[in-house]
Amino acid sequence: MYGLNAAGRTALDRLPEWKALAEHREELGEVHLRELFANAPDRAARYSLTVGDLHLDYSKHLVTDETLRLLRELAAATGVAELRDAMFRGEKINNTEGRAVLHTALRAPESAVVEVDGHNVVPAVHAVLRKMQVFCDRVLSGDWKGHTGKRIRNVVNIGIGGSDLGPAMAYEALRAFTARDLTFRFVSNVDGADLHEAVRDLDPAETLFIIASKTFTTIETITNATSARNWLLTGLGAGQEAVAKHFVALSTNAEKVAEFGIDTDNMFEFWDWVGGRYSYDSAIGLSLMLAIGPDCFREMLAGFHLVDEHFRTAPFEENAPLLLGLLGVWYGNFHDAQSHAVLPYSHYLSKFTAYLQQLDMESNGKSVDRDGRPVSWQTGPVVWGTPGTNGQHAYYQLIHQGTKTIPADLIGFARPVAELEPGLAAQHDLLMANLFAQGQALAFGKTAEEVAAEGVPEELVPHKTFRGNHPTTTILATELTPSVLGQLIALYEHKVFVQGAIWNIDSFDQWGVELGKVLAKRVEPALVEGTEVPGLDASTAALVAKYRELRGR
Ligand code: F6P
Repeated sequence: MYGLNAAGRTALDRLPEWKALAEHREELGEVHLRELFANAPDRAARYSLTVGDLHLDYSKHLVTDETLRLLRELAAATGVAELRDAMFRGEKINNTEGRAVLHTALRAPESAVVEVDGHNVVPAVHAVLRKMQVFCDRVLSGDWKGHTGKRIRNVVNIGIGGSDLGPAMAYEALRAFTARDLTFRFVSNVDGADLHEAVRDLDPAETLFIIASKTFTTIETITNATSARNWLLTGLGAGQEAVAKHFVALSTNAEKVAEFGIDTDNMFEFWDWVGGRYSYDSAIGLSLMLAIGPDCFREMLAGFHLVDEHFRTAPFEENAPLLLGLLGVWYGNFHDAQSHAVLPYSHYLSKFTAYLQQLDMESNGKSVDRDGRPVSWQTGPVVWGTPGTNGQHAYYQLIHQGTKTIPADLIGFARPVAELEPGLAAQHDLLMANLFAQGQALAFGKTAEEVAAEGVPEELVPHKTFRGNHPTTTILATELTPSVLGQLIALYEHKVFVQGAIWNIDSFDQWGVELGKVLAKRVEPALVEGTEVPGLDASTAALVAKYRELRGR
């Protein structure tokens, strides 16, 4: 038993620490950031933290010392530290699946000992990393050849969810570190258009498919992998024997990999204690390792590990993931915020928020507690956002002047990537000026008096007024390097952990994705053959009939 249930304690919203926060929220009322800053000139300095290469400014939050103290007390009362330590020890904290949660072991140094059922898992982690490295060296040097003797120039990762989003996001993020003479594509959607567009201009003789699936039963991935195999064999005019040179698998399921026809020598293993959405620094990162090379991959793992150690050891007052998790609880549970925007001011982080959507929403989108009892408090937020400055010309209007409370993270880097030519690198200051300006405008707004003083006609004053008081965290680093990316992801992973611990939910299962999968399997024959699906509701039955009519069936 973990968290709130450990000592048979009361429900979260009946804890004295929860009630104290609710009362404190009442007392603070609609206090404005303008006032909080006016009362504490050193606020920016006091409400900032440095972890590794990440500088976090949380001064633009609707909190006081008292708020932060009460939030930390809530963390203590809900057993966040105990659950964290149990996770790092390899205990089976994923209680609905009876599994340990050990993505932290994937980036532990070789000397570390992390036991699951009395067995140290770290040597196996490093053995797989070495196997990945040997494979990458062979492909990158041209020693690994395709069926016709040509070297590999194209790498297509086929996977979905955690078997796609991590490597695809990190590949984009670290483009500047990638082998530019190789082509990388990521195929996830069962819509045949995805695979079609990914391979239509590739030479099968030079193409390697990486089939990434923890379970190796995911219908989208197996369907796409089968089509990719057909494309390859047809293109090469070869038989099954060509598969060994063009297909490798990343999975926990050797039996299914062999069943598909991939030699298990070409399989890179991971384990059931790695959740899909926490898996991209396992074998699932093979495409990324090919792209950035083994050394950069290890640098990235070191970045993850740095933040793991920070989360494990830093006192609550200085613990960045704990702080971010608590701020999310503050807004979600005490300010009625429904969503959380992640706004990276880096084009390279174009898939960062999509990655975080799975991490956060698949983890904390739950409405029963660890014991299956309905919760009476809000859990995970809707996570959304796209890179600045594009969003500024689309949806920032709503954040600035809409009716909703939307806490946001603004992420930026002091330096542009090194390879930009000087003219383009010079644009970086403008990019970052926008980040800082948005944080400022969101927090402090523009009062009616200020607007009127500019001579704005009276009837337009309300339209041009900015309420402000929109909370943001600003995360700054010198440069987007492999290590910094690892640090950022680990920061969010542990933030999500903290929130799940407080809400007393299992952040490591995802039963909510199952029903749709089962129903799709039942509906598909009805679309193809017109067979009747027993018990199909009237609306879906009518849609199925319409679909068949429109398809001319
Ligand atoms: O459907 C959800 C999910 O199970 C995710 O949690 C996972 O990342 C994804 O599907 C892919 O699963 P697999 O790696 O087993 O193909």
